Amino acid sequence: MFNLNNIIRPNVLKMKAYSSARDEYKGDASIFLDANENSLGSLAGENYHRYPDPHQKQLKRKIAEIKGINPAQIFLGNGSDEAIDLLFRMVCRPGQDKMLHLPPTYGMYEVSANLNEVTMEAVQLTPKFQIPVAEVLASITPETKLIFVCSPNNPTGSLIEIESIETLLRSFEGLVVVDEAYADFSESPSWTARLAEFPNLVVLQTFSKAWGMAGLRLGLAFASEEIISVLDKIKPPYNINEATQQLALQALEHTEALRDMVEEIKQERELLLHALPALAQVEKVYPSDANFILIKVKDADGLYNYLLSKRIVVRNRSTVPGCAGCIRITVGTLEENQQLLQAISEYKTQD
Ligand SMILES: Cc1ncc(COP(=O)(O)O)c(C=O)c1O
Repeated sequence: MFNLNNIIRPNVLKMKAYSSARDEYKGDASIFLDANENSLGSLAGENYHRYPDPHQKQLKRKIAEIKGINPAQIFLGNGSDEAIDLLFRMVCRPGQDKMLHLPPTYGMYEVSANLNEVTMEAVQLTPKFQIPVAEVLASITPETKLIFVCSPNNPTGSLIEIESIETLLRSFEGLVVVDEAYADFSESPSWTARLAEFPNLVVLQTFSKAWGMAGLRLGLAFASEEIISVLDKIKPPYNINEATQQLALQALEHTEALRDMVEEIKQERELLLHALPALAQVEKVYPSDANFILIKVKDADGLYNYLLSKRIVVRNRSTVPGCAGCIRITVGTLEENQQLLQAISEYKTQD
């Protein structure tokens, strides 16, 4: 049986959160001389001389409304990368505990594991980029505290089978983190709908992809109220800055425009999925549920450099185990995609 208190690090369980000046006073004052801010104002603009709301109440209320989730089950991070790091710090004792991930996948799970001195168990995805469930279950030890599943997966674009994730959630007594950074581009329902069923489920999402706010740094974690309260306790108090909170609140008023943008990106993705296989350089085009496409080409390094010479940057993934010969292409604008296709068609392998 999953018991959160069994996996939280003892120091985290014991510690108290930083109590900010604004936490200690809840009334309706007009003179604030409690936080050593600049009382004269800010050269950056109105409101920026004040620390932001450490609990992001307004923003969480709005997100809760849009997603149909209780605000107490939402954590906001400085990008989902911050949530990834805090999950390590919450449950993994440095030098003792382990995490398991499923390469080829998003690189920050490994970076955060290394930073936090957490041993990493890597179980390679199958050739169809799915989870070899039996192998994962056999690799779990009492020290394994976190399993990262990225779906749709970066860099493969594959959606991970629901049953595999369910099996992990039922069999594993640590946290299963389902990273849905690209879920807006997929038809599959979000795992947030299953939170009540699985107390060990953490779902990550981000405003960096479909919402087009990568520069603002705003990521989300959804989980039980208990898990979220621990993440809130250990986060830096003012991790979401005022500009981000304000701009995100504005953007969240435009969910219809978001839908239109996502539809346009999906249409462009379909055009690319259709056009890429016809190019001589391209050996394989993997299906994609994300806003990027993984392709296997005859000469990944040569093509990558050729595209650079045409001032087009793609992601060369050819040295990543499981992705030999592969390049990952973000879906661009209509014009960008046309230029990309043109450039790939012009490239000739140098013999
Ligand atoms: C799978 C996945 N998760 C998380 C992130 C990081 O998102 P954020 O910008 O919210 O830190 C990325 C960014 O590329 C990603 O590909």
